[in-house]
Amino acid sequence: MLHICILLVGVFVAIALLIGFRPTRRVGRWLGFISGGLLVMVALAYGYFMRPISMPTAPQVNAETALNTTRANLAKLDFYLGAGVYTADDINHLAFDGFFNSYSSINELKIGSVLRDPQARSYDFSQADTFIARAEQKNLRIRGHALVFGKLSDLYERPNLQAWLDANYADAIQKSTALQSLVDHHIDTMLTRYKGRIGQWDVVNEPLGLFGQGALENNVFLRNLGPDYIANAFKRAHNTDSQAKLFLNEQFDTYVGPRAEAFIRLVQQLKNQGVPLHGVGLQHHMLFTLTTAQETKIFIERLAAMGLEVEITELDARLRLFSDKDNPYLAQAEYYRDIIKTCYDIQACKGVTFWGLHDQDAWHKELPWMFPNPNAPYLFDEAKRAKIAVQLLADEIGGWQARKLFLPM
Ligand code: GLA
Repeated sequence: MLHICILLVGVFVAIALLIGFRPTRRVGRWLGFISGGLLVMVALAYGYFMRPISMPTAPQVNAETALNTTRANLAKLDFYLGAGVYTADDINHLAFDGFFNSYSSINELKIGSVLRDPQARSYDFSQADTFIARAEQKNLRIRGHALVFGKLSDLYERPNLQAWLDANYADAIQKSTALQSLVDHHIDTMLTRYKGRIGQWDVVNEPLGLFGQGALENNVFLRNLGPDYIANAFKRAHNTDSQAKLFLNEQFDTYVGPRAEAFIRLVQQLKNQGVPLHGVGLQHHMLFTLTTAQETKIFIERLAAMGLEVEITELDARLRLFSDKDNPYLAQAEYYRDIIKTCYDIQACKGVTFWGLHDQDAWHKELPWMFPNPNAPYLFDEAKRAKIAVQLLADEIGGWQARKLFLPM
């Protein structure tokens, strides 16, 4: 319903704009045409991508063996299959136990979850500590996500660091000094507290603007600290924990084109400057289109050839993207299998993490106007029952041979 209303509003606004301009004013008329046309296009695109789609419910599978064997199989393969969780309870929930061997916390290690007050620099680690303790009890790998994340501050306001700076500091120099000091303090705090327990961190998350040609995102860090905020965060992290593997994490809906090339240039520039960058995380949220496994392979190989580790860190592909297939659940499962196998076939690609465990907790629900159902992106359904993807992945991983040494060209 919402999408139809927005579509209609778009069309009405476009018509109003067109007739609102007096025909004698040529520029105004052209502007009216152009903006009206753009609005219609946006409204149509919105109507297309957001239209309601009905799909069958997930076919039931008996995945008991898959759940009992996959983690053990992964242990022999030097490969991580992970999931992001909202709550520590999911780590040892029987519905998933025995499957994944790596966990990320979707929110609890982010600055907004631990920092109570940027001015007083007071922290509350209770949730973060619980998450880490649960994973440790099970002897599972933890990915640290994320230390410096512009959108978290600018868009989600967790916390709004720009507002904090504006309220407390008078000029640009003071703001920059205060923000740099907070960032350094935060990196030191997290890496000191979890030294030896979290072996790998997303140091900077989503440095590029989500849209456009790949310019650095205009976020609170770029505005106040300049582009060196990225290199400085890595250096600081390395000084505090020289053993931790430090990752740059970014979302792509395609690995070809100017934005992907801009990312490669950014990585190369950081490498040339001697920045301690050890790996790249490719989020791989598939939201409106599907990137092919072949495209993904080429991009991972390019990063691997630069001497970097790679992980797919936030995999999900909405079920709607497979709505033209006879069995969308199977097609989604096969897509996941192909992406994971692509990673496994490249020695430098160390693991794949799904950005959620079960459809009840899909992060897409935070933005329902952008991601209307059916999203159903995960391996387990709303009732935490295994979908066909669990079986398919378990069979696939069960058949893998140990990897051969990969020598970058
Ligand atoms: C990005 C971030 C995650 C998470 C998701 C969804 O992918 O890396 O931390 O916030 O967006 O909201």
